[in-house]
Amino acid sequence: MSLKDCYNFEDFRKLAKRNLPAPIFHYIDGGSDDETTLKRNTESFLKCDLVPNILASVGEPDLSTTLFGRKIDMPIFLSPAAMQRLYHPDGDKASARAAEKFGTFYSMSTMATSSIEEISNISGGPKMFQIYIHKLKGLTDNLIDRCKSSGFKSMCLTVDTVTAGNRERDHHWGFTTPPKLTLKSIISFMKRPGWTFNYLTHERFQMANVKDFTKKGTSIAKGVMEYINEQYDPAMSWKDAEYCIKRWKGPFAIKGLMSVEDAKRAVDIGASAILLSNHGGRQLDGSRSPFDQLPAIKDAVGDKLEIILDGGVRRGTHVIKALSLGATACSFGKGFLFGLGAGGQAGVEQVLKRMREELRRDMILLGKKNIGDLSKENIAFIFLINRSGFPCLLRGNKAARHFDFLN
Ligand code: LAC
Repeated sequence: MSLKDCYNFEDFRKLAKRNLPAPIFHYIDGGSDDETTLKRNTESFLKCDLVPNILASVGEPDLSTTLFGRKIDMPIFLSPAAMQRLYHPDGDKASARAAEKFGTFYSMSTMATSSIEEISNISGGPKMFQIYIHKLKGLTDNLIDRCKSSGFKSMCLTVDTVTAGNRERDHHWGFTTPPKLTLKSIISFMKRPGWTFNYLTHERFQMANVKDFTKKGTSIAKGVMEYINEQYDPAMSWKDAEYCIKRWKGPFAIKGLMSVEDAKRAVDIGASAILLSNHGGRQLDGSRSPFDQLPAIKDAVGDKLEIILDGGVRRGTHVIKALSLGATACSFGKGFLFGLGAGGQAGVEQVLKRMREELRRDMILLGKKNIGDLSKENIAFIFLINRSGFPCLLRGNKAARHFDFLN
């Protein structure tokens, strides 16, 4: 299978699995505990259907929209994702270039393997920086100020990772940053000689944004969960978020916010956006899916915040459903990381190309010309009623057979 034969998430995932050593593949692919939230994030989109309008004379739909005060060419962008150098030697550079080519946001993780300055030098496209509050004093200011002077125009603060989620696949496979040869991992590296050769012969792995503050994660190998627990401040609060917003003075999103109460509070402290997200099911397992929570959040904050739906997005129709229910845009992590693992910049471009094709086709079939035309009128919810007459959740096709669908 080659990139051009990849049409959907599963195809890119398969190709990435073929290229990447198991600990690295499973670091991307996995979630926390029993991975119920990871699965549910995507399953949630099945709870409603799209209802098209016919004969709408759509012609060529316009997929562009505005996010963080900037026009983007499609309503989905790349979520921040750590350590992209592990998935391809070009790492963040490949993702940033691909996003720029498709006129959408690339997001940089604090744990990126390219620096803020390197990426601004190679990309004039829309860029968002993702910040964590570290225990190390001074690092927050340093990151914010460097972003300001390097052409990053928007920022998000991750609030759902104050302690690491329980990613058991990382334990099983012995995943560390940087990768370490251990008894557990050595066979998986030997099985992927192409990756191992590239890893050893290209730019050295480093946590480029924080390497001058800590050697851990760069020259001292750490499990990612251990790294998070050592570095990030578990006592961070609304005061810290407000501090970042005031220092940044630009479009600012809170990432990992899920409750209505917190969304209202985000408005009060001056955030301009939220990433409705549970960290791709990698943190609190059993937490609600962003798509399920979207209507309540939209009801509560209206247009006071831009809502970015991050979690489980695999298809153009997922994006269309989220936008119809009030999201400004969507973002995806695993969706594009498998493209990166499958083929570097060309892989991410192929993911975005397929997504753009899907969105274009979906808009035409739905009878909508502009992103702004999408509304809840396009959506019908499916209620699942079990034999005792109680509403219940859809849990995969097998379980659904036992229920009646009522529309
Ligand atoms: C993760 C963090 C580092 O999900 O974003 O692994």
